[in-house]
Amino acid sequence: MPRKLILDVDTGTDDAVAIMMAALHPDLELIGVTTVNGNVVVEHCTDNSLRVLDFIGRGDIGVYEGLARPIARSDFPIPRAIKKSTGVHGTELDVPPATSRKQNKSAVEFLIETYRAATDEITLVPTGPLSNIAAALALDPKFVERVPELVLMGGAHDHGNVTPSAEMNIWADPDASASVFAAGFRKLVCVPLDATHQALVSRANVLEMEAMGTPAGTAAARFIGRRIGAYDANQPMAERGAAPVHDALCVAYLVDPSVITTRFLHVAVETQGALTVGRTVVDTHFRGEGKPNCHFAFGADRAKFVAMMLETLRRTA
Ligand code: BDR
Ligand code: CA
Repeated sequence: MPRKLILDVDTGTDDAVAIMMAALHPDLELIGVTTVNGNVVVEHCTDNSLRVLDFIGRGDIGVYEGLARPIARSDFPIPRAIKKSTGVHGTELDVPPATSRKQNKSAVEFLIETYRAATDEITLVPTGPLSNIAAALALDPKFVERVPELVLMGGAHDHGNVTPSAEMNIWADPDASASVFAAGFRKLVCVPLDATHQALVSRANVLEMEAMGTPAGTAAARFIGRRIGAYDANQPMAERGAAPVHDALCVAYLVDPSVITTRFLHVAVETQGALTVGRTVVDTHFRGEGKPNCHFAFGADRAKFVAMMLETLRRTA
């Protein structure tokens, strides 16, 4: 039986690849997409998610719009985040406008109601700021028990991307992130920059995608090609002509957990520090009081990840 999941996204070029992989992989059943303010304002995250799903022939998957602001600090960090991410993502993804429409229900309602009614296990996969998830936790005290596994893209141990200390998804709504890490999920897997920066996708891979002739291959080639240009220009990786596709690594993990290597450790999020707000504080040497609460990925198998991505993008709906 395919593994059911909900993706909570701020689409975004790498969220878009994650959506396509989740919607096309035969071992996965994407039962809904919820959107949140992040890479672009939430209306564009919703529109971009609809565009991608329509383009690959999966307009049947519902898209539910979520929070337009962080749960706290309503003045923070929207303008700066958007300015920083325009090169990597743009505002509207480069595929035709969607014909599908978003659902009437809000993302947070959808999350709460879906988990309340669920008879099967549904993995929750947030790949944007954690505002929707924190709202669901606050509104439904049983939400945390109902989620069998939460696999998120976010955080960084070695170095951040939006500040020296913090990664974008965690930093964009630090209070929400702190509540998610402290909530006590049955299984919390964190896929941070430490792992995604090891799973680079190259220009040669983009050429392979282009040559596939499938809608997903064509779209991914455009999105990842854009990412590589922006990374080379603004935050070059260890290898030029290659970029991380962060969010897609979470989806790959659902199919094959060995695509990342994790350590089970205590992780908390800094919400106060003037220099460190949004940092994932990982207790690698058991110096604190907190018990392990998170499977934190320090490594990734690039070859395995890229092979799975290429194989999935070759598929059609
Ligand atoms: C994360 O931030 C966003 O820009 C990406 O979509 C990814 O989820 C990487 O820091
Ligand atoms: Ca994202």
